[in-house]
Amino acid sequence: MYSELTGKVAVITGGSKGIGTAISKRFGQEKMKVVINYNSDLEGAKQAVKAVEDAGGSAIAVQADVGSEEGNKKLLQAAIENFGQLDLWVNNAGMENQHETHELSLKDWEKVINVNLTGVFLGSRTALDYFVKNNKKGNIINMSSVHEQIPWPTFAHYAASKGGVKLFTETIAMEYAARNVRVNSIGPGAINTPINAEKFADPQQLENTTKMVPMQRIGDPAEVAAAAAWLASDESSYVAGITLFVDGGMTLYPAFQGGQG
Ligand code: BGC
Repeated sequence: MYSELTGKVAVITGGSKGIGTAISKRFGQEKMKVVINYNSDLEGAKQAVKAVEDAGGSAIAVQADVGSEEGNKKLLQAAIENFGQLDLWVNNAGMENQHETHELSLKDWEKVINVNLTGVFLGSRTALDYFVKNNKKGNIINMSSVHEQIPWPTFAHYAASKGGVKLFTETIAMEYAARNVRVNSIGPGAINTPINAEKFADPQQLENTTKMVPMQRIGDPAEVAAAAAWLASDESSYVAGITLFVDGGMTLYPAFQGGQG
């Protein structure tokens, strides 16, 4: 636990499931006030609100499309109206789908880029504008992926979006570092979330993925949330522009395990 987080106000996008809900819950344990954004899953958002409250924090659920300017404005307004300020913005919302690239439609490309990359830009811009105009210390955390670094055939749009998040994070981290705003990314590997539920329900696919993780197991959303809490806290006060991989070693070229190569 990080005592300085008590009472801090966070917006988290895509908070109605998976890693977003785990981060919300962790922020609840930190006694924070959380605006939990959801797109369509009101039930999931309500459960996330309850998890925050049960843990000792405060939360509200706010519907918004993170790929739109109005959606992000709405989230900032909700933070200010309900909790009086903004301290931290977590661009967590993301999506993926699988297509061979020669068959990937422009529509699917645009949808993934809109949520995963344009959403990160719009959320960051909204938060940065608030921090700068209010001369306020700020913190932004972007949810990237191991696929900001590892190419992922049949997920070209997803990998492109995460590669974009990497350089966007580094760029704005540099641009705003002297203005007391820290920006970092988290790069989860294979985590037990709804996005992966179908894949990991298949024992063969689960085994294939597990083999790609030096720690030989799938990660828990709470392990990603722990990284978010650290990046949100003052314990990471000299950290800017990194991607903190939470991946059991997936980015370490596991094919070389045992001296192959
Ligand atoms: C994806 C997961 C995938 C993991 C490792 C993540 O970014 O969302 O579906 O299992 O990367 O490949």
